[in-house]
Amino acid sequence: MSEQKRIPQHVAIIMDGNGRWARQRGKERYEGHAAGVEPVRAALRAAARNGVKYLTLYAFSTENWGRPEPEVDALMELFCRSVVNETPELVRQGVEIRMIGDRSRFSEKVQRYLAEAEERTAGGATLKLILALNYSSRDEIARAVRRIAARAAAGELAPERISETTIGEALDTADYPDPDLIVRTSGECRLSNFLLWQASYAELWFPEVLWPDFTEADFDRALEEYARRDRRFGLVK
Ligand code: IPE
Ligand code: IPE
Ligand code: MG
Repeated sequence: MSEQKRIPQHVAIIMDGNGRWARQRGKERYEGHAAGVEPVRAALRAAARNGVKYLTLYAFSTENWGRPEPEVDALMELFCRSVVNETPELVRQGVEIRMIGDRSRFSEKVQRYLAEAEERTAGGATLKLILALNYSSRDEIARAVRRIAARAAAGELAPERISETTIGEALDTADYPDPDLIVRTSGECRLSNFLLWQASYAELWFPEVLWPDFTEADFDRALEEYARRDRRFGLVK
């Protein structure tokens, strides 16, 4: 019998390459985003099958607002449509939707759709699907620092008692363990403002596959890659 495979508790994915996938096919960029929905389903199926408990997907960064308006509008429509269409299946699979990022910048309509998806999937026990929407790490950290500073100014928290735990608890990810594995598709080897604090000891993997082409087999490959890694956390074995 082979040694039991180590499974990451939390996998985070930077879903990149939709635009290039579309361009290669002579399609519009938004068609690449639309083609990125099926791989989300595939990643979810593979995560659930392997016993992964948290799957975080980077879907829209604070910087992505700077893209052309039609593309941003198409993405907003796609988020609304997808959460509505997918919710029944997510409920069936026991997937609980959660979000990180600053959603106050989204339109009321988008905020309503997101809140409904969270409510309807609440209590799903198979896995948590954490969508990073209007998310960036520096924005998250700045918001956390403002909250901590307000508590200090109000006399509720002595500055010398601010610890890594205090900071972790003030981040959007307070309820979740740090990611064990971060995957970025499309061959780009950067984090683009994603989970900078939480990624301290994450394993990183950068497959060439463009996000719309990502399959369950790619997710399985990510887990195989992870199982080969030797995590030392600064210690000596
Ligand atoms: C990722 O694909 C999706 C979002 C950032 C919303 P891109 O749209 O960044 O695709 P490329 O990088 O241009 O190929
Ligand atoms: C990161 O991808 C954001 C998401 C996948 C949502 P980008 O395509 O926006 O990042 P850069 O511009 O290549 O760094
Ligand atoms: Mg990109």
